[in-house]
Amino acid sequence: MKITVINGQSHKGSTYHIGKMLADKLGGEVTEYFLPKDFGDMCIGCTACILKSEQLCPHYQRLEKLTNAIDEADVLIFTSPVYVYHVTGAMKSFLDHYGYRWMVHRPEKKMFSKQAVCISTAAGAGTKSTNKDIADSLFFWGVPKVYKYGVNVRAMSYSRISDKTKAEIDKKTTAIANKIKAKNGRVKVGLKTKGFFEIMRMIQHKSGWNEADTDYWHNKGWDGKKRPWK
Ligand SMILES: Cc1cc2nc3c(=O)[nH]c(=O)nc-3n(C[C@H](O)[C@H](O)[C@H](O)COP(=O)(O)O)c2cc1C
Repeated sequence: MKITVINGQSHKGSTYHIGKMLADKLGGEVTEYFLPKDFGDMCIGCTACILKSEQLCPHYQRLEKLTNAIDEADVLIFTSPVYVYHVTGAMKSFLDHYGYRWMVHRPEKKMFSKQAVCISTAAGAGTKSTNKDIADSLFFWGVPKVYKYGVNVRAMSYSRISDKTKAEIDKKTTAIANKIKAKNGRVKVGLKTKGFFEIMRMIQHKSGWNEADTDYWHNKGWDGKKRPWK
């Protein structure tokens, strides 16, 4: 099992440790990146990725190794501490760079067979909206199975988390790992993704939003009978 972890922070605090605990329990080949250390560019809003090609993004080359790691993984783990009720700025900026991959534009076929996990920690509140920030992208990328785990750690560092909360984290990460292992290699695309894909397909069929997207869908045969899942 190939696992790619994208940490929305460059330090190894509570959020990182929970993501690592899960990755260790999955027991696969792990590739991990830290934002902004490994990628810290802000989307400049040029829209070249959406309207023409992602290769025209001024940050394309710096992003490429992370994109490849995402594409090659069976399981994606995204972690972010809650910063003012949302993902870190670094994580948001990273996700902005994949707007062109949303189903409304040019989704990547490889996404439709993956499992992903969103992990966030807060001192007291905000994990729901933070996990949703990440899960929104994962859904619209086409990832069929997304788990969300938010923990109110009531601490500003991993060492200060209570034993009781650490025991809960241990239990929950084991449960998620077991579910992922059971589904590995046989993830099914659900009705919500299929339905949304169908609406996008109709839009692309009727000439779409822009030429780059329409050509992409046409070349894949997705505007006809083919689908990105088996
Ligand atoms: C800029 C900033 C904003 C934060 N905003 C929130 C918040 O909205 N809600 C909350 O409960 N904790 C908030 N916190 C606390 C962290 O989310 C919390 O301590 C988290 O567990 C830190 O994870 P880490 O150890 O991985 O850095 C914030 C911390 C920082 C530095």
